[in-house]
Amino acid sequence: MEKYKHIIVQPISGSIGADIYNLDISQPLEKDVFKELEDAFLKYLVICIRDQKLEPSSQLNFAKLFGEPMIYPFVKGLPEYPQVTPVVKEKTETINFGGLWHSDTSYEKTPPLGTMLYARELPPYGGDTEFANMYLAYETLSTGLKNLLEELVAVNISGKGRVQNTRAPMRNSAPTDKDEASFLAEHPVVRTHPKTGKKSLYINTAHTSHFKGMSVEESEPLLNYLFQHQIKPELTCRVKWSVGTLTFWDNRCTQHNPLNDYHGFRREMHRVTLKGDAPR
Ligand code: OGA
Ligand code: MN
Repeated sequence: MEKYKHIIVQPISGSIGADIYNLDISQPLEKDVFKELEDAFLKYLVICIRDQKLEPSSQLNFAKLFGEPMIYPFVKGLPEYPQVTPVVKEKTETINFGGLWHSDTSYEKTPPLGTMLYARELPPYGGDTEFANMYLAYETLSTGLKNLLEELVAVNISGKGRVQNTRAPMRNSAPTDKDEASFLAEHPVVRTHPKTGKKSLYINTAHTSHFKGMSVEESEPLLNYLFQHQIKPELTCRVKWSVGTLTFWDNRCTQHNPLNDYHGFRREMHRVTLKGDAPR
C-alpha cells in the first residue's frame, strides 16, 4: 500500500499512528531502512515498532540514531543508564505516570523532539495510550482563530497540580533533587516543525499555564476551548501495547494520554527522550 520496501507500515487510524513490522532495532540499521523508518515517523507521528527484544543499551543505541538522549528531571533513571527512566505502575498503586493529556516536558526551554517507550511488562488488559495529532488540531481551527493564535506565546510550567500528582508515586521511589515547581518556558502557541515545515498547536492541559501578557483568568476560557478541541476523538489513535512494542512519538506535533484502567496489575516501560530544538 505504501512505498516502503523494507519495513511494513500499517496505519492505526485515519489521523495518526502506524504499526511497524519486519524490523529488528536491536541491530544496527542499514541506511535505507533507517530512511524508511524516519519517513514513517514524520508521516504518522507515532510509530509502534512491534515484536522487539531490547536491553537498555540497545534501546539507547537505537535512540541515538534519531537524536541525543536527555535526562528526565524529576525521576531517576537506571543507575547504569541514567537516560533510561523506568515508568512503572505497581500492582498496589492507583496513580499512573503522566496520566492526563500532555506533550512531554513542554516546561523545558528545549523540550524533547520525541520519546521512545518500550513495553517490558503489561497488564492482561488495559493500559493503552492515546495519541492526538497537533498538526490537525491546528489545521481544523478557523482562519480567524489561527491568526489570533499565531501572535501568542504560552507560558509552560512544571508545577501544575494535576500533573504533579501523576508523578508522585515514581518520585516516592526514585526522586531527584530538582524542585518540581522550578521549570518555566515560554513557547509559541503555534510552532513550526523543523523537519516538515508544518504548523502545529503547541499547548497542553498538563503544563500550559497562561498566555504571555495575560492573566491566568483571562487565558482560561480560550485555553480550555483549545484543550478540548485538540483531543477530539477524530484527531487521535489508541495504541494497544504488547510486551516488546517500542513506540516512538514526535513530541513536537503530538500529545498523549496514558489510560489508567488496570488497577491491580503491574505495568513497566523503559523511557528514553531525545533532545529537541527550542520551539519556533
Ligand atoms: C511518558 C508517558 C505514557 C505511558 O512516558 O512520557 O506519558 O503510556 N507515558 O506510560
Ligand atoms: Mn508523557
